[in-house]
Amino acid sequence: MEFLFRKPQFSKKLTLGLVMLVGYLILFSYHVSSFITSPEANTLLKWKASLDKQSQTLLSTWKENSSHPCNWVRIECNEFNSVFNISLGDLRLRGTLDSLNFSSFPNLQFIHMPNHSFHGIIPPHIGELSKLSYVDFSYNELSGGIPTSIGNLSTLSFVSLQQNYLSGAIPDGITQLTGLNSLILSNNDFNGHIPKAIGNLTNLSELDLLENELSGHIPATIGTLVKLTFLKLRFNHFSGHIPPQIGRMTNLLHLGLGGNRFIGSIPHEIGMMKKLELLDMSEKNLSGSISSTIGNMSSLEAIYLYSNQISGSIPQDIGKLYSLKSLQFLDNNILGSIPVSIGNLVNLRDLHLFQNNLSGLIPSSIGNLTELTYISLFQNNLSGNLPLEMNNLRKLEDLQISDNNFKGHLPQNICLGGLLTRFIAENNQFTGPIPRSLKNCSSLRRVRLENNQLTGNITEAFGVYPNLYYIDLSNNAFYGRLSPTWGQCHNLTSLKISNNNLSPQNL
Ligand SMILES: *[C@@H]1O[C@H](CO)[C@@H](O)[C@H](O)[C@H]1NC(C)=O
Ligand SMILES: *[C@@H]1O[C@H](CO)[C@@H](O)[C@H](O)[C@H]1NC(C)=O
Ligand SMILES: *[C@@H]1O[C@H](CO)[C@@H](O)[C@H](O)[C@H]1NC(C)=O
Ligand SMILES: *[C@@H]1O[C@H](CO)[C@@H](O)[C@H](O)[C@H]1NC(C)=O
Ligand SMILES: *[C@@H]1O[C@H](CO)[C@@H](O)[C@H](O)[C@H]1NC(C)=O
Ligand SMILES: *[C@@H]1O[C@H](CO)[C@@H](O)[C@H](O)[C@H]1NC(C)=O
Ligand SMILES: *[C@@H]1O[C@H](CO)[C@@H](O)[C@H](O)[C@H]1NC(C)=O
Ligand SMILES: *[C@@H]1O[C@H](CO)[C@@H](O)[C@H](O)[C@H]1NC(C)=O
Ligand SMILES: *[C@@H]1O[C@H](CO)[C@@H](O)[C@H](O)[C@H]1NC(C)=O
Ligand SMILES: *[C@@H]1O[C@H](CO)[C@@H](O)[C@H](O)[C@H]1NC(C)=O
Ligand SMILES: *[C@@H]1O[C@H](CO)[C@@H](O)[C@H](O)[C@H]1NC(C)=O
Ligand SMILES: *[C@@H]1O[C@H](CO)[C@@H](O)[C@H](O)[C@H]1NC(C)=O
Repeated sequence: MEFLFRKPQFSKKLTLGLVMLVGYLILFSYHVSSFITSPEANTLLKWKASLDKQSQTLLSTWKENSSHPCNWVRIECNEFNSVFNISLGDLRLRGTLDSLNFSSFPNLQFIHMPNHSFHGIIPPHIGELSKLSYVDFSYNELSGGIPTSIGNLSTLSFVSLQQNYLSGAIPDGITQLTGLNSLILSNNDFNGHIPKAIGNLTNLSELDLLENELSGHIPATIGTLVKLTFLKLRFNHFSGHIPPQIGRMTNLLHLGLGGNRFIGSIPHEIGMMKKLELLDMSEKNLSGSISSTIGNMSSLEAIYLYSNQISGSIPQDIGKLYSLKSLQFLDNNILGSIPVSIGNLVNLRDLHLFQNNLSGLIPSSIGNLTELTYISLFQNNLSGNLPLEMNNLRKLEDLQISDNNFKGHLPQNICLGGLLTRFIAENNQFTGPIPRSLKNCSSLRRVRLENNQLTGNITEAFGVYPNLYYIDLSNNAFYGRLSPTWGQCHNLTSLKISNNNLSPQNL
């Protein structure tokens, strides 16, 4: 037709002829429209035919009864009857994407296909979907790499490929997608480095690379991602220092760096992240001390610094973290005493400080922490009497204070709330009787009080514990007889009581 229009001498006749032809075509297609299937419908039908039989049943409305697929289930079209949304939800379809020829969908914006059994690769021609803004292939069985053509999709704002078998490097081209809001690649086998130019993705609010095989340093440019709210890098092989620039991400709510190979100390700049709710720098090789700037992270609800080589003492400013619910500094080389200011953390539920070099007393302010459920302080050098205020901890389920130098009596009301399941206090110098509140503590499952200097007549000290499976009272100074009620503890597999002064008829 282009050729014909370039020849004016024929134009009149031809134009007339053309008008008639076009008119005829319009008339014709009006009558037979239901027989001319659009390339979009054709592609979808072809893809449907490639899926397993059961999946085809689920897509029974996808059939050749219309020129366009706009009435089909899970398909939405724009005003020109062109597909813009393929949203397959939880249909559990099974097959590959190979015959889903993306080139057929010039207007496709949304691909929502999580939680199916799609295997095979992500077709490279996905890079031709120039209007694509949302793609979710999470929870499938896709393998292979991310097509490099993804760098063409300048309108992309959401990408989730979570939980597949994808591998290879994160393509550099992804850093050209400056409109990207969420990049979720967790639970795959991606390797290689985070692209240096990641800092170009200034609109990013969620970057989730959890559980991959990624390595190398975190680029300092990451600090330019000031809109970031979730940064999840846990369980990779990242190394080097944590760049101080992370402090610039002042909108961050969740910072998960644990389970990597970082070295050096925790940057002071973390104190600038005033909105942070979760700070996870666990299971690494971090050293140095905990900066008192953590006191600035006033929104913090959970802080995990466990399993590092952190030394120095716990800063007093920890007491400023009023929202804190979980404090986990276990398995480090932390020195000094537990700060009195800990008594300000009235929302605290978990306090895990075991396997450190803490010394001194447990501050009586701990009695303020009435939400406390788990306390584990074992394997430290803590000493002195337990504060009477521990009797206030009525929500306590788990108390582990073994392998310290505690003396004096066990808290009388340790099970007043009736929730205590584990009471682990062996290898100390406790004296005095079994706490009264333990008698009716039917929640107990595991009790270890061996290797202390506990005394008293135990004949009536204990009750019936339906859940108790392990109790060790050996190497103390108990006397009396073993009560027959122990026979009603049906789950009990170990009752150890050697090296006491029990009446001989029981032995
Ligand atoms: C095609 O089939 C679907 C599902 O059975 C139905 O909703 C739709 O109205 C049909 N379209 C035509 C043009 O018959
Ligand atoms: C795409 O379709 C699904 C399912 O019909 C719907 O939930 C979703 O909101 C649609 N997306 C857009 C942007 O229209
Ligand atoms: C994919 O669709 C486009 C446009 O409809 C077409 O040109 C191309 O030949 C198709 N490719 C395959 C492999 O079917
Ligand atoms: C996947 O779908 C199943 C039901 O088909 C549902 O039980 C499960 O929660 C879904 N998983 C996710 C991650 O959406
Ligand atoms: C899309 O990306 C591929 C691979 O990076 C490239 O070869 C191709 O030229 C790009 N196409 C467009 C339209 O940008
Ligand atoms: C960044 O995101 C906002 C909304 O979240 C959007 O309006 C804006 O266009 C995006 N910027 C780019 C460069 O895409
Ligand atoms: C993207 O990042 C690179 C490397 O960090 C940088 O040189 C370049 O200027 C950035 N481009 C834009 C548009 O910000
Ligand atoms: C901590 O907060 C104080 C007071 O708001 C401020 O002066 C100090 O610079 C902050 N430190 C950090 C590391 O953000
Ligand atoms: C931890 O870091 C030290 C140097 O700071 C190094 O000697 C050691 O090998 C590292 N350990 C691990 C498990 O990476
Ligand atoms: C106990 O908590 C209150 C706030 O509920 C606080 O004012 C007080 O200083 C705390 N006491 C101790 C000893 O930490
Ligand atoms: C006893 O132990 C079994 C198995 O360990 C457990 O399933 C059961 O709930 C326990 N019974 C009670 C009363 O706790
Ligand atoms: C221990 O208490 C039981 C029951 O109260 C009592 O019968 C017994 O004489 C006491 N034994 C000793 C050695 O005091």
